[in-house]
Formats: sequence, structure tokens, C-alpha cells
Amino acid sequence: MAIEAPATRPANPRFSSGPCAKIPSYTLDMLADAPLGRSHRAAIGKEKLKAAIEETREILGVPADYKIGIVPASDTGAVEMAMWSLLGARKATMLAWESFGAGWVTDVVKQLKLDAEVKTADYGQIVDLATVDFNTDVVFTWNGTTSGVRVPNGDAIPADREGLTICDATSAAFAQDLPWDKLDVVTFSWQKVMGGEAAHGMLILSPRAVARLESYTPAWPMPKIFRMTKGGKLNEGIFKGETINTPSMLAVEDYLVALAWGREVGGFAGLKARADANAKTIWDFCEARDWIANLAEDEATRSNTSVCLKFTDDRIKDGAAFAKAVAKRLEKEGVALDVGAYRDAPAGLRIWCGATVEQADIAALLPWIEYAFEAEIAAQTEAA
Ligand SMILES: Cc1ncc(COP(=O)(O)O)c(C=O)c1O
Repeated sequence: MAIEAPATRPANPRFSSGPCAKIPSYTLDMLADAPLGRSHRAAIGKEKLKAAIEETREILGVPADYKIGIVPASDTGAVEMAMWSLLGARKATMLAWESFGAGWVTDVVKQLKLDAEVKTADYGQIVDLATVDFNTDVVFTWNGTTSGVRVPNGDAIPADREGLTICDATSAAFAQDLPWDKLDVVTFSWQKVMGGEAAHGMLILSPRAVARLESYTPAWPMPKIFRMTKGGKLNEGIFKGETINTPSMLAVEDYLVALAWGREVGGFAGLKARADANAKTIWDFCEARDWIANLAEDEATRSNTSVCLKFTDDRIKDGAAFAKAVAKRLEKEGVALDVGAYRDAPAGLRIWCGATVEQADIAALLPWIEYAFEAEIAAQTEAA
């Protein structure tokens, strides 16, 4: 029996987990106000950078006494700047449940060569935060982009901890609640939930993180692009938009446009609701079928941004080849781009559900996943 292709296609087939879909109705004309060819130190450049910081604070609800800086090298730059500047003062605990968290473990253990306790969980699972000693400095990823597993809440993090919590929140910020009082460093980039451009990182510091910066000097040399202090004091300029080196004013304008859209859709609550609705559409689809499931084992840890799925049909002979073939078929049909699982993750699909993705597009995509699944099962039988 021929398998019939669904009648409707997603209007926007972009479901990549980064760079993520631009805001709905995006056009390059929206960037017309970018002060191109002007110095980022000129009044207009400084104003734009300051606005990016202030709008971020407003939408995310970052406490007034936390510092927000725009730093080089995207989220990686922000995380590494934090680890290189803050770690080493006390014992570190490194948590990882997917590829990016594992990358931070490598940084700390193999590059910084620090005395660290490493706690890991397999793809689909999470480290139990109740077992972590928060009197050590703890580095972790809020939302594991490559496993679709997120921290459910900050309840296990004590308010009176002695260590710092350093949190890579790049695929969580703007879509998931971040308990600011439990987090000393939060990082993210612009190209995830807000659909901005890849370029710069956002580095958010609590007063305790600032106190550490001003009271501790690491034993290792610090490159200029990591340096946040001058003469033992925080370089306040960085947190007002006086970037360490030259930013892209086009990328800054693009972020400002995305933030303005974020306000239009209801600020943080609206952005989160969009991601929740997108993810729920997929969860419900999986719930009603016995051949596809969420990679996240515990419902409380299911991501509402990077939704990772695995095929569970026992007719599948080669899981990796099968998942790749499904993703390829979806791409060839023009209904889903970049939805293959991350290269180090278990075979399957990863569908970005962040705020810039339209729920109607997710709804239109799902019958195509069923179609591609059935087509690949049939192709497998024919090949046998
Ligand atoms: C959890 C996590 N951390 C770090 C990164 C690296 O981010 P960037 O490329 O912005 O440096 C990513 C990218 O997807 C990510 O998902």
C-alpha cells in the first residue's frame, strides 16, 4: 500500500537547534537602524549595546544587582571566561548529561587541570542535584541541548551555598524559568530561543560572583578577552556595553529586534508559553504512538526547547541509519531542516521548539514525521 504524503507543509521548515529560526515575519529590512560603519564606542554604538543589556534584564527579570555583559565568542566564550576567571578558589564539581556539559568537564579537568568531582548521567537522564555539594563551585548546563534533558527547578540548590553555581543556560534562557537567586553565573547566546545571530555571548554575574572576581586571582595567565578585572576591581564598563573588543553592530541590531518582538508576544511569560505549546504538541504526538518517544526519561526533565526523540519500533534494524534516513527524507521533502540528532547523541530526531518557532509549523511537521517513518520502514523491508 502506497503511503500518502500529508497535504500540509510547515510554512517555515527551520527547526535547527542553533542557529534557530528567526522571529516570525523576519526580513533583513528590520535591521535598517543598525549603525553600520560607525564605532561601537561612538554614542550611538554604546547606546545600542546598553539597550541590549537593559532589554535583556527587563525581559528575563534579572535582579538589579546582577551584572550583564556582552562578551566575545558566543556562549562558549561566556562559559569559558567564567570558568577561567572564577574556578580554582575552591573545589569544583562538574555536572554533565550530554555533549556540551561534557565539553566543560574536559575544559576543567584536562585544560585547567583542577581538582574536580565529575558527575555524569547518560543521555536521557540527569544528575541528581540533591547529591551535589554546593559548597564547591558547581558547573552545569540548565538545558542539555543535545539530549533534551533540563534541570526541572533550582530547589536542590541551597540559598546559603558557599560555592558558586556556574550555569550554561544557552538553550534555556527566554523559554525556561531560571531561579536567579540560585545562580551565580548564567550564560547564553543570541541565536537560540530569540533566533538572534551567532556572535556574542551574554555573561550574567551575581554579586557573589563579582566578589569572587575581586578577591581571587587565578594562578594561570588570563588572555585579554577573558579579563574582567582591572587592578583587582571589576571592569564595570563591560557590563554597560563597553565590550572588550569589537562587536558586530549588525548582530546587536538583530538582537534588539528580536527582543522587541519578545516584548510584543508578552515578554518572558509569552516566550515561555510559545515554547511550552510547541513542545507539548510533540509530546502529545509521541504519547499517542508506540514507535516514537522522548529521549528524556523523566517527564519533569523534558526540555521545551530542544525536544529529542528516539524511534522505538523493534522492526528497525539499524537505528542510526534509520534515523538519518528519516531526517534526510524530511529535508528532501522541504518540511524539516536540520532535525537529525546531534552527532554525539543517541540516534533520533531533535526538533527545536523555542519561542521563534510557530506552533502551527510543529503541528504541520508531525504528520510528515509519521509519513517519513512509515516510508523508511517500507524501504527497509524492500531492501531486505
Ligand atoms: C548547551 C550548549 N552549550 C554551549 C553551546 C555552544 O554555544 P556557542 O556555539 O554559542 O558557543 C551550545 C550550542 O548549541 C549548547 O547547546
